[in-house]
Amino acid sequence: MNEIKIIITLLAILCVACIAVDVQKHRSNLAGFLEKTYGVHWRTRPLLLQGLWKKEELLDPDRRLSLSGLLNQSLEIPYFSDARIKNSLSPDSKGSVGAIVANISNGGAHKIGTQFIVQTYPDLISEVAPTEIVTELFGDFFKPDYVKGSGPFSIFPALTTVPMFVANGQKTEGFYNKGQPYTPLHCEPIGNVAVQLSGTKEWTLIRPEFSFLVKPSTAPDGRAFFASWASKLEHVPTYSARTNAGDAIWVPTWTWHRVDYVYSPEISIGGSLFHFRTADFARNNPLFAILMIPAILFELVGYSTQ
Ligand SMILES: *[C@@H]1O[C@H](CO)[C@@H](O)[C@H](O)[C@H]1NC(C)=O
Ligand SMILES: *[C@@H]1O[C@H](CO)[C@@H](O)[C@H](O)[C@H]1NC(C)=O
Repeated sequence: MNEIKIIITLLAILCVACIAVDVQKHRSNLAGFLEKTYGVHWRTRPLLLQGLWKKEELLDPDRRLSLSGLLNQSLEIPYFSDARIKNSLSPDSKGSVGAIVANISNGGAHKIGTQFIVQTYPDLISEVAPTEIVTELFGDFFKPDYVKGSGPFSIFPALTTVPMFVANGQKTEGFYNKGQPYTPLHCEPIGNVAVQLSGTKEWTLIRPEFSFLVKPSTAPDGRAFFASWASKLEHVPTYSARTNAGDAIWVPTWTWHRVDYVYSPEISIGGSLFHFRTADFARNNPLFAILMIPAILFELVGYSTQ
């Protein structure tokens, strides 16, 4: 028993902050800096990109992916009416973006996690991340055309999908002790540059070399991702990170992650650049890749919105 305790303690010590880079400081040669500092395989590990957007760029009054822009958006989308409920990975309600965001601003525990906003207005992809920088770091995946399907009737899946995530932590948490909106632990067959445009989120990512310690379930609705209902992560070495407005986090293909919405005076608005990286799909987790193929074929229209 003692040996087990010692091993667990050692593993717990291995819970570390993600590596982070100050984007604006190294902007003139960001990819070069990352390769020199972390090696050519830096994309196999999570990375916190601090200051991907400059603060003043996010204050542009013409932005549509801002609080005022979203309040003014009447598109009907699915959403989670109460994202504090345990283990919910599928939306349960429908409403207009403006009405949902208004409720979140007033302290409602809803969560938006949908690709329909950027799918409907593909040019919004350039408001999620500075195209030049993410193209330099991750490749040519981020043109508005790539968010649409292709072929007649767009029957081929878009290889890039850009879900928007909006929610906020509860100010009263602790007193009422009802928990906070969150996205339970899951992993996906795509790479993800998750950009924070407003507010704050906390990320817990399982370190890729310890993925095997997580017991996976296939997604409840047969969609193309794996979920895990494990509630305790203390025996699994993790990375942790906090994204504030302007920051982004790189979540490599198949990396298990959980997202917590902590209270912030500004609601959390984020957009994720989900893109299919063919080589990483098989290399990062060959077993999951094979198990996931039927779900991907089934879900021709794109990837999970969570
Ligand atoms: C709100 O939307 C209308 C049209 O849908 C547009 O003309 C107007 O400029 C928008 N206002 C803001 C503040 O985004
Ligand atoms: C917003 O909150 C009100 C009051 O709780 C509720 O009646 C309404 O359905 C909510 N709207 C949406 C879009 O969830």
